[in-house]
Amino acid sequence: MNNSSRRNFLLHTSIAAATTSLGIGCSTTYRTNQITNHRPVIISTWSFGKPANELALQTLQDGGSALDAVEQGIRLVESSGNSSVGLSGNPNAAGVPQLDACIMNGPGHRAGSVAGIEGVVHPITAARLVMEKTPHVMLVGRGARWFSEQQGLKTNDNAEDKKRYEAWLKKQKQNSLNKEINSDNHDTVTLIVIDKNGDIAGGCSTSGLSGKIPGRVGDSPIIGSGLYVDNEVGAAGATGLGENVMRYCASYQVVENMRQGMSPTKACAEAIKRIARIDPLGMNLGINFIAINKRGEFGAAGTQANFPYSITTKDFSEVRKGQALSAAYQKEGGNEK
Ligand code: GLY
Repeated sequence: MNNSSRRNFLLHTSIAAATTSLGIGCSTTYRTNQITNHRPVIISTWSFGKPANELALQTLQDGGSALDAVEQGIRLVESSGNSSVGLSGNPNAAGVPQLDACIMNGPGHRAGSVAGIEGVVHPITAARLVMEKTPHVMLVGRGARWFSEQQGLKTNDNAEDKKRYEAWLKKQKQNSLNKEINSDNHDTVTLIVIDKNGDIAGGCSTSGLSGKIPGRVGDSPIIGSGLYVDNEVGAAGATGLGENVMRYCASYQVVENMRQGMSPTKACAEAIKRIARIDPLGMNLGINFIAINKRGEFGAAGTQANFPYSITTKDFSEVRKGQALSAAYQKEGGNEK
């Protein structure tokens, strides 16, 4: 691809990715999620989070911490062949999957993250090691890779990159008129655990926006944007178009909404509505959030119709739909008559 067609392709990809379908109407999750005092509870984005939640629960039941549970759950998705998480994720414009991940532990308010890392099989573990073994919070690019190698993490510079890139490019051209953000073309596993004592941990892992300019970093490794954990209040995490999350520190906002007394679903919905009120895209943001509070109540909301999230307790494990926000909410609140 020459420079001009690559530019056009990137422009087209970002516009198409930002143009997601709008959801009309609400699911019943806001009401039914006020049910659980049955900690531990594990929540994650998308239906592919369900097996990750179940492994996280097993990790807790085997005596692991909430942090161990987050790491193990996310590692499962990273090695599952997912097209938007791990080295099987869609490539950037140079044909290489560049990965972002973060982890945060409520006790001690500690965090670690890696961004734009290449060839590391489990970026979530790299993020945990940044948190635990360094005085830093975030490492990027070659430095993050170097650190991961020093720590003995598994790497794989996939010789098939070029072939995969060509196959992916062909698919993009075929589907270019029918793109929306979904778990096939652009998404993040964000997984949050509250253990039986009420301690909270969370993590995110993604290959980010497919076809992104090399070096582009999304919301997922940015603490407060893709993920935020406050052990006094709760935690929230995002999936969707990172550019529309990270300009608003949106996961932090969801947690702050819960601190003000909102339920998890309402906290997610109000954060989105607040963004939509001032953003030129309105509700056409392609962003979705999950949240959990200190009592183990959980919820989700998104600009997409019926954003699926996974929820697991010792009593059930299922995929639910988040509250779908529609254009009808755009004018709600702020500066009314
Ligand atoms: N939410 C993932 C990204 O935009 O990179």
